[in-house]
Amino acid sequence: MAENEALDQGAVIEFPTRSRAAPKPKPRARRVVAIGGGKGGIGKSLVSANLGLALAARGSKVVLVDADLGGANLHTCLGVPQPRVTLSDFVEKRVDRLEDVLVPTGQERLELVSGAMDELDAANLKHGQKTKLLRHLKTLDVDYVLLDLGAGTSFNVLDFFLVADLGVVVMLPEPTSIENAYRFIKAAFFRRLQTLAPDDDFASMVARALAPRDGQLAMTPLDVVVELRKTDLEAAARLEHALAGFSPLVLVNQARTRGDFDIGPTVVSAWKKFFGLELGYLGAVAHDDAVWQAVRARQSLMKAAPQSAAATGLLRVAENLIALER
Ligand SMILES: Nc1ncnc2c1ncn2[C@@H]1O[C@H](COP(=O)(O)OP(=O)(O)OP(=O)(O)O)[C@@H](O)[C@H]1O
Ligand SMILES: [Mg+2]
Repeated sequence: MAENEALDQGAVIEFPTRSRAAPKPKPRARRVVAIGGGKGGIGKSLVSANLGLALAARGSKVVLVDADLGGANLHTCLGVPQPRVTLSDFVEKRVDRLEDVLVPTGQERLELVSGAMDELDAANLKHGQKTKLLRHLKTLDVDYVLLDLGAGTSFNVLDFFLVADLGVVVMLPEPTSIENAYRFIKAAFFRRLQTLAPDDDFASMVARALAPRDGQLAMTPLDVVVELRKTDLEAAARLEHALAGFSPLVLVNQARTRGDFDIGPTVVSAWKKFFGLELGYLGAVAHDDAVWQAVRARQSLMKAAPQSAAATGLLRVAENLIALER
């Protein structure tokens, strides 16, 4: 079986680091933003759809991509009928260009690449198909490409997360969800290490160093840097490089109490200190009956209840995202 025909069992893809190469001649998306978070049902699609609407309403050109290859439903969050052309048509080579599967959403400047509706899912996307898709996503000539990720921490989900310029981690203000979000971030970080050092055992060495021992808490990536400096300066520098280029943004969804709205910055600063990761905070969105009411009415939240607490929170998140450019 040819290498690119092999099912992706962890084949390594090159991801961008912060230090960008010279501008490419091809047009490319100004920002690819992935919306993930490990668990299902936490609001990834709600955030993606309404962030897309908010950014487009603010004047940006946006493409929303339903990258939840097994459970595509982004069109429902947008309030559009199931499109006839989907990502499958591009991945399975029924069309040549990603632009050929863009469908209108009714919102000016916002187009959708609908998710696969056939046997294609994250588990059986082949390595060659994935690299081609990731490459083409980067060449869309728009201001933002938003990727709505599926649940879980499979390599395909993590690779979509890592290929983005900005990775958003959605979590609920509950201990279980915060743990899941951290697990997702850690899995993405190790996947990134693997991509930076695919040919040696650097990543596994770091993984061993970070694993809990005798019931003691695991070392943080920062501790590992300090340890590595004693024995292997080059490995320490590589780990520092990996840390520097990895800065997910946390978004709290379904906030009910004052404490829920405040928890994001607390979690971010604790994780920064404890793990040495450069995390950012994107904002909090209220738990709001308007959300499920809009879903049931097959309308987007922004259209069904633009004044609702959740819609207002999502608008603020969009503002925060735009502010990152400044
Ligand atoms: N802020 C909110 N307020 C109230 N309900 C919410 C909110 N966010 C999400 N929900 C509810 O959770 C449901 C699931 O949200 P969504 O489909 O966006 O999750 P998801 O993370 O994309 O899930 P999956 O991984 O299964 O695709 C929504 O249909 C809605 O009913
Ligand atoms: Mg979803």
